[in-house]
Amino acid sequence: MAKTTQTSSWMATTLHLICCCLLISNIVAVSRDNFKTCDQSGFCKRHRAVPSGESPYVILMDSLKIQATNVQVQLLNTKNNVRLLLELYGLQENTARLKINELNPIKPRFEIPIGDVLVGEPKQQGIKIIDKNDQSVTFGLENNKVVLTSKPFRVDFFTEGDHVVGVNAQGLLKFEHLRTKPGWFHRVGTGIYSWFSEPFREPKPAEPDNQEKPEGEENKEDDEAEEENKEEEVAAETQDQQSEEPNLWEESFKGFADSKPNGPASVGMDIGFPGFEHVYGIPEHAESLALKSTKDTDPYRLFNLDVFEYELYNPMALYGSVPLMIAHNEKRTVGIYWNNAAETWIDIRSNVADKTFLSKVADLVKGSSDIPQTDTHWFSESGIIDLFIMMGPSPKQVFKQYAILTGTTPLPPLFAIAYHQCRWNYNDQDDVKNVDANMDKFQIPYDVIWLDIEHTDGKRYFTWEKDKFSHPEDMINNVASRGRKMVTIVDPHLKKDDNFGVYADCKNHDLTVKNKDGGEYEGWCWPGSSIWPDFLNPAIRKWWASKFAYDQYKGSTSDLYIWNDMNEPSVFNGPEITFHKDVKHFGGWENRDIHNLYGMYVHHATGEGIKLRSNNEQRPFVLSRAFFAGSQRSGAIWTGDNMGEWSHLKVSNPMILSLNLVGITFSGADIGGFFRNPEPELIARWYQAAAFQPFFRAHAHLDTKRREPYLLDERLMKVSRDAIRTRYTFLPFWYTLYYLGERDGGPLVMPLWVEYPEDKSTFQMDDQYLLGTSILVKPITEAGGIGTTVYFPGQNEIWYDILTQETYKGGASTYINAALEKIPVFQRGGSIIPRKMRIRRSSGLMHNDPFTFVVCLDKKGEAEGDVYVDEYDSFKYKSGKFILKKLTFKDNVFESSAADPSGKLDTKEWIERIVIVGYPHQPKAATLKSGKGTLVSLDTVYDSKTKTVTVRKPGINIADDFTIKLS
Ligand code: GLC
Repeated sequence: MAKTTQTSSWMATTLHLICCCLLISNIVAVSRDNFKTCDQSGFCKRHRAVPSGESPYVILMDSLKIQATNVQVQLLNTKNNVRLLLELYGLQENTARLKINELNPIKPRFEIPIGDVLVGEPKQQGIKIIDKNDQSVTFGLENNKVVLTSKPFRVDFFTEGDHVVGVNAQGLLKFEHLRTKPGWFHRVGTGIYSWFSEPFREPKPAEPDNQEKPEGEENKEDDEAEEENKEEEVAAETQDQQSEEPNLWEESFKGFADSKPNGPASVGMDIGFPGFEHVYGIPEHAESLALKSTKDTDPYRLFNLDVFEYELYNPMALYGSVPLMIAHNEKRTVGIYWNNAAETWIDIRSNVADKTFLSKVADLVKGSSDIPQTDTHWFSESGIIDLFIMMGPSPKQVFKQYAILTGTTPLPPLFAIAYHQCRWNYNDQDDVKNVDANMDKFQIPYDVIWLDIEHTDGKRYFTWEKDKFSHPEDMINNVASRGRKMVTIVDPHLKKDDNFGVYADCKNHDLTVKNKDGGEYEGWCWPGSSIWPDFLNPAIRKWWASKFAYDQYKGSTSDLYIWNDMNEPSVFNGPEITFHKDVKHFGGWENRDIHNLYGMYVHHATGEGIKLRSNNEQRPFVLSRAFFAGSQRSGAIWTGDNMGEWSHLKVSNPMILSLNLVGITFSGADIGGFFRNPEPELIARWYQAAAFQPFFRAHAHLDTKRREPYLLDERLMKVSRDAIRTRYTFLPFWYTLYYLGERDGGPLVMPLWVEYPEDKSTFQMDDQYLLGTSILVKPITEAGGIGTTVYFPGQNEIWYDILTQETYKGGASTYINAALEKIPVFQRGGSIIPRKMRIRRSSGLMHNDPFTFVVCLDKKGEAEGDVYVDEYDSFKYKSGKFILKKLTFKDNVFESSAADPSGKLDTKEWIERIVIVGYPHQPKAATLKSGKGTLVSLDTVYDSKTKTVTVRKPGINIADDFTIKLS
């Protein structure tokens, strides 16, 4: 057995190191060479080379068509006479949409199907003309104004009178119209249409569809002549481009040829944020939260990739992409969402950050009078320009506006937000049993134990390695008998083996992604030679979902959940370790058009499978590595293969904050770091940080030493255990946050400026954050750390240490001692938090346990909060089986009342104690009054040092409304 384990361990490691990164020269850092720089990407280079200045595009004002909720107008590229169609929509909730496409493309360009990223067709809202002249037209949209300027073309968005977004203000719009590949004669530049080659075909610019037709018939001939001229101009321009611009028709990278059958098809333009110094979002990058100027680097790249041992603080692409950027200043917040699934790059310039050293010095002396401005430049390899402008004006309104477009994270089952124990790999059933027993022995709660790829029969997902996992159902049932669950990995690549049912099915029904010539696309991944189902096809997603049925996935039970990995997808022998760009999907689309969506579709289809297997009764839990905008609707994601180093613990904070800002709230990083053997102290500190992050899972590479928390020395074991146990006491608070997150959108963990939008000192802070609006966390991320300076926001606020109840004044920084045992976590005065203090082996065993409400009073002696309760795993909450209570403390009265009377639930959960922190004296009496009207006198205990009253055993059911009056 040991030998087999070792052999498979050796093989897997070899695959990881050799296959995954055949080309890796050293294993210390990312092999940058495997991934394109901007210079190695034709379209990136072409867009970066567009000079800023007067745009060649003009609006053809006489083509303007105005309807109740939208406007259409043509744009003319005065250099090549190609026409584009611009559409501007007013949407509900202070949002606008700007679409630019070719007026007459030779074939359709890819648009993401409605329902896949956008939850539906966005609801339109009336727009009205405020002003119109030859040069510009101004529209009103709620409190906003949009100005379209004709020559040069630009669009400006104003909200409450402030100019907040300027589109094409720098004239960088570049829209590569589709064209047919010029034949040989064209390529040699003769300019003659050849009989032997397909004629060069240009879209005929359509006649402007005027509202009134000012031009008479007599102009027709002139027009036709003009059109011919234009065709020639276009042809000439294309040849010019070909000689000047490289990589238009084919491109290669490290020996991988990209056939580019459609030639150049990229789109790009500049989007400026006047008045904003800081922009955030566009994950995934291992980067600070506030994005940096890319003046001296590559642009930020969005292209889902499997990056081995990724580098920190640079704009390289990682596993997922969300093209949402948020700009924030003291007065307002705006968001822009670039709805395009192709490879995308974003340049950022800031008039503040990009100042020379000398002008910064001059500013210091004279004081700067510059208005800050951030300019961004977006370009995607194909698709259309489809831009949503969310005009806030507050951060929370931007989150809501984005949530209306792409949805929110559904409430996970409770176990999914508890602690997960993972490793590549738990080797066999006995191993699982041992880990499970040891966690109990050391009294470390955990909810889920995970099995990585080695549990399968030769990396054939949906199967079990027969010797090591001979009785999977028994194994799962055993774990489940303590309220726990299991997760197995199911990657989207399928081993090419006719005896492997899922593969055979996929092949026989012709469900695979195709290569450029129409044959089955084949590549390498963990199982060796593999194929990939074409998840772009809705029917194939259904087929995949059906594979999770209990009678299909033999050995699975309702306590088994799923992990989707390598779904960027990762192709060990593909260009940049992924699909070739000219791979073909459903509908004839190339991977080039849809690349960033693939992983999201896998994630989504798997979630549907979990729902389906239970007749839509069970809430799914699926973890995915790749993601896109809208992936939040499918559940959890993690930040991939990080390293067991302090720097990776540190960067996990901004990475998770960035994901939360763009709606991917259920996110976390591998505790301990995936690669390498972390110092034990780092593991313990990582547990402390992750206990206050949304997805809480330890994971480790196959080659690392075992590091389950009970293996640490006694002190560190206790530190880690305490962190995990603390997480369990906060589960009711987390669960309530997740519920409200599903209802309202917005982040679960957030930078301080979301809650304190006017506090400039928080705009670049990403080493401390808020959990909901009531908990402030500053994890220790330094080796040997013994304390840290914490900034307490809010001039008039009080913050309470959650362990000592010591108080700190808002609006100031204080050094907090934080020896190993301490996590600097503070509760905001004015908040009430639901907790459960009886810790058990798993959250599943805590369902019926009683609540403790922790009330931290503000300066007025008041506080408020919420508590949400349901069955913790089913969908019945959607049909009213839940309790949502508003909790308040005011005028010495604690009150719990129904916040949503439509919810009802029979539950045994009751209230064990109410802890009121910041109360000035021992109350003489505490009187409980429940719905029935009876008055009951309760015991209280007062701690004068911490000014804490504990009201003991109200004993009342959580479903009941009640008050407790202190006197
Ligand atoms: C990838 C995943 C990692 C997993 C490994 C084996 O590297 O990111 O989490 O353990 O594959 O499946």
